[in-house]
Amino acid sequence: MDITGTRALITGASSGIGRSLALALTREGVLVAIAARRGELLDGLADEIESTGAPRPAVFAADLSKRGVARDLASSAVRAMGAVDILINNAGAAVGGYQAVIGDREEARDLFELNVWSPAALTAALVPVMRRRGTGAVVNVTSAMQVMPWPTMGSYMASKAALGCHTQTLRLELRGTGVHVMEVIPGPVATPMQGESALIPGLARAAKGIKPGSPDELAQLVIRALGRNVAQVVYPRLLRATYAVPAIARRFSARQAARLATEFDPNDERVVLSGSQGDDLSRRAREAWERGERDPRRLQTLNASGRAERRCPNALWAPVGATAPQRQSEQVEPGLNSPDRRSVTILNELALCSQNQEEGAPAATSDLSKFDVASRCFQAGCRGFESRLPLSAFLC
Ligand SMILES: NC(=O)c1ccc[n+]([C@@H]2O[C@H](COP(=O)([O-])OP(=O)(O)OC[C@H]3O[C@@H](n4cnc5c(N)ncnc54)[C@H](OP(=O)(O)O)[C@@H]3O)[C@@H](O)[C@H]2O)c1
Repeated sequence: MDITGTRALITGASSGIGRSLALALTREGVLVAIAARRGELLDGLADEIESTGAPRPAVFAADLSKRGVARDLASSAVRAMGAVDILINNAGAAVGGYQAVIGDREEARDLFELNVWSPAALTAALVPVMRRRGTGAVVNVTSAMQVMPWPTMGSYMASKAALGCHTQTLRLELRGTGVHVMEVIPGPVATPMQGESALIPGLARAAKGIKPGSPDELAQLVIRALGRNVAQVVYPRLLRATYAVPAIARRFSARQAARLATEFDPNDERVVLSGSQGDDLSRRAREAWERGERDPRRLQTLNASGRAERRCPNALWAPVGATAPQRQSEQVEPGLNSPDRRSVTILNELALCSQNQEEGAPAATSDLSKFDVASRCFQAGCRGFESRLPLSAFLC
């Protein structure tokens, strides 16, 4: 698709990936309409875009966690621009909480409204016209976490997996119509959401050593992919293997969660909303991240005035002294299929290499040091899979 001169509606453009996409698309000659809740940030972005000589974007302050708002947004965008050629469903947030606590509470339902039903409503409102015109694109931003289950993140992962399924189905349904459907699957990307990720029990340690990607680079990849009718963009690239072989990712997640068992407390009844209008802790972590704070332990211990405190070394849901469930066996289970068995073997080999070869590294006797080794190995293992598996597995 040649995107020059087209019109795009981007949700979640007040921050992070959506903001980078709006700027990058504008540079390519796309007229954009931008939506999110924080109208003042959208106005600022519109000023910035206008100052480059590009047409001023239409701005829509909209809360997409409310039913019906997405359809109104679609009508408003069409009124403002004449039509929408590219729909980018990027707005998203998370809710943290143990599954047995969160159940189907309003917070989880609102999350599905934002992450699943609003993109679906925008699609239903805008795609029929794209089809009739024989051209257009729908870009849905999901998450690599859809293949990496993690305690307290069930609602977020389920919502992103649902959006992923909607996207893949839509692509099949629109084959041959001229309407391009793409799923963007980010792993860690350096946006304020990363500040909140530090609050998720164990996740900072699980992701230790993985360098978050850049939202600007991701925006460039999306633009290139739009030009080539690519079905999926997985970013950072290291995660392509993880996404292509989800069984391995799931099993590895489970092992990490078992190793980090002391971080979890399923008796904790808190439900924590993420996002710019989420709970205090989430907002403090986002704001500190925006001010440049990157240390997960400091992000986890911010007090009401936004300063890191010394107490409470564990993550949000993990009070000090939480009892650790019994560690799972480290043996490879007999039922594993061969790629999975090979992957575990590679990871085990890499773990031993890391232990033996890293000069000055502590012996992996504590949970933390063992975990650090495993984390490094997971990344190295992904690179190993990329070189061992057939190239076709990674042609997304
Ligand atoms: N960064 C990562 O590591 C990562 C990884 C995997 C997936 N993702 C996905 O990437 C997408 C963009 O996230 P990001 O990393 O750029 O995070 P971000 O900086 O927090 O941006 C999220 C955007 O969504 C908007 N939004 C949130 N709740 C909304 C609501 N109820 N109604 C309307 N807009 C809402 C926010 O605007 P307001 O707050 O102004 O409403 C903001 O513009 C999300 O779907 C996220 O799930 C990100």
